[in-house]
Amino acid sequence: MTDFEGLKALVTGGASGIGRATAELLAERGASVAVLDLDPSSVEKPLLGYRADVTDDASVRQAVAAAVADLGGLDVVVNNAGIGAQGTVEDNDDEEWHRVLNVNVIGMVRVARAALPHLRESSRAAIVNTCSIAATAGLPQRALYSATKGAVYSLTLAMAADHLREGVRVNCVNPGTADTPWVGRLLDSASDPAAERAALAARQPSGRLVSAAEVAGAIAYLASPLSGATTGTSLAVDGGMQGLRLRPVGQ
Ligand SMILES: NC(=O)c1ccc[n+]([C@@H]2O[C@H](COP(=O)([O-])OP(=O)(O)OC[C@H]3O[C@@H](n4cnc5c(N)ncnc54)[C@H](O)[C@@H]3O)[C@@H](O)[C@H]2O)c1
Repeated sequence: MTDFEGLKALVTGGASGIGRATAELLAERGASVAVLDLDPSSVEKPLLGYRADVTDDASVRQAVAAAVADLGGLDVVVNNAGIGAQGTVEDNDDEEWHRVLNVNVIGMVRVARAALPHLRESSRAAIVNTCSIAATAGLPQRALYSATKGAVYSLTLAMAADHLREGVRVNCVNPGTADTPWVGRLLDSASDPAAERAALAARQPSGRLVSAAEVAGAIAYLASPLSGATTGTSLAVDGGMQGLRLRPVGQ
């Protein structure tokens, strides 16, 4: 018997990258898994796919209700859907700030709101939010994105406090730059994609990008009933980027 045997999990943004790796890992470890995504067309069995836009409350409520009905309950929510934004505070207008905050922050709120009545029914309930190193380190050209992830970090702590006595644990993961289709798109748009990839890899003490599977492993750790005493924490999955200060090679 594995730790997720018999558990029912829902992963937002589960059609790509970190969400996809997480949905597949939870299923491998015994969970029944529903994926909510803007485009669930690539979701394959045993995963169940549902179309949902996390910026649309009705769409989230409908998809969560359908997933819970099909799964027969809900134990784990992975709030992972998110989008990027580049630039300093001068580079994005109000509309863009509202758009990215709407997906990255209020999107998680909408999903949690719809899921909590079901999670309270579970004896092994957990929410894991996908946050970012951008919440805890100042990165250049990421003002808007960092503000959304800082909000996700604080939201994680507040939710952990609110729902502890209801038996719902809430934690987050803070990935460094992860090798996902998103980062692929970012590299494609750079003037020198190879140089950009090398710069991103060099920024992490490990000297390489994080893999989606490594982030999925951390999410599964926090979601697992084996981590029943862990709530209100953030787990860095960043090749040492947040915590370490290495000397240059050879010195
Ligand atoms: N890739 C990285 O370097 C990195 C680093 C730190 C944190 N993150 C976070 O990880 C999460 C996933 O990122 P990824 O790199 O796997 O990205 P990705 O673009 O590969 O996957 C994101 C998924 O979210 C879905 N999505 C986007 N907007 C949506 C919406 N409105 N409603 C429903 N689904 C929506 C997309 O369709 C896609 O399937 C995000 O929250 C991101 O902020 C990524």
